[in-house]
Amino acid sequence: MSGEAWIFGYGSLVWRPAFAFEERQPAYIEGWSRRFWQGSTDHRGVPDAPGRVVTLVRQPAARCVGLAYRVEPETRERIFADLDARERGGYAQHRERLHRADGGILAAEGLLYVATADNPNYLGPASLDAIASQVRASSGPSGSNVEYVLRLAESLRALDAVDDHVFELERRLRDGRKRGGKRCA
Ligand code: SIN
Repeated sequence: MSGEAWIFGYGSLVWRPAFAFEERQPAYIEGWSRRFWQGSTDHRGVPDAPGRVVTLVRQPAARCVGLAYRVEPETRERIFADLDARERGGYAQHRERLHRADGGILAAEGLLYVATADNPNYLGPASLDAIASQVRASSGPSGSNVEYVLRLAESLRALDAVDDHVFELERRLRDGRKRGGKRCA
């Protein structure tokens, strides 16, 4: 493949792309929902105690808001290789149509990373309370799992995104912190 490319981030790539891009803008994809169903053994957890990070699951009427980054033809292969390495804990490249916030088509095919149920670190569904407990207990080489959730929620709010799964999990984590604070006072 040649030419410029668009990369769509919906998890850590929203708030920490860590690659050089020419332009970025809010975007969404259709037919997918963000879920904390992927285990992280290399970023927000460790092999014996995986954290939980987001992946996408198919949901026909859903819309997932994130950020789209345009990268230049000269740098795209290097960036894809770096992202393949960063996302190697279970994610695979996938291509989807990207929409602008106003509904127009931004790119017929944007690159994104999806961790499907057949990868070894996949954890799958759990109650939000169980996910919150696991997140609270986890950290890995990239930092705490709580930080991942809170930074994602803050970034999505800045994009005016509606994502009950993320915001409900954030609420549980923040409530837990407040309760913890009172006990210590
Ligand atoms: C993404 O951010 O688009 C992929 C999932 C992640 O690295 O959190």
